[in-house]
Amino acid sequence: MYVWIKTLHVIAVIAWMAGMLYLPRLFVYHCEAAIGSQQSETFKLMERRLLKAIINPAMIMTWLPGLYLAWAGQWFSAPWLHAKLVLVLVLSGVHGFFSRCVKDFAADRNSRSQKFYRIINEVPTLLMIGIVILVVVKPF
Ligand code: HEM
Repeated sequence: MYVWIKTLHVIAVIAWMAGMLYLPRLFVYHCEAAIGSQQSETFKLMERRLLKAIINPAMIMTWLPGLYLAWAGQWFSAPWLHAKLVLVLVLSGVHGFFSRCVKDFAADRNSRSQKFYRIINEVPTLLMIGIVILVVVKPF
């Protein structure tokens, strides 16, 4: 059972990360589209669908099996898991921020620059590297 839940967890992680890496790229291109243009409306649709159909469900399917694994494997006392949870909470916060950005773009009130989105685009990557090192290497 444990390994099947872990399989589900890793599949969900891949979907969550794919979305978290792609969404800010869409924001970067969306910044170039004029408000009211066909292109801008297409980006709005892509962003909303990516968030609602992939990123949100994938986050839930990462968290629930992840918590089950932590409980079933008795990992809750392991320091690596504490560190991993801190990084995953930050990642979830970035997720929440991205969902606010989708709302801002949808209402044509984005005020952040393209450069800002290029920089924030790297944050999920850095968090993912840290999380994977912690769970695979378990350095402490
Ligand atoms: C949402 C909260 C999360 C919790 C509570 C959690 C917890 C866990 C636990 C307890 C395991 C099993 C470790 C083992 O059997 O050795 C695991 C496996 C794994 N987790 Fe998470 N995790 C979470 C989120 C994430 C995220 C966001 C990522 C990647 C970005 C991730 C990547 C992985 C990977 C790759 C494995 C497989 C490691 C292996 O088999 O060696 N997890 N997770």
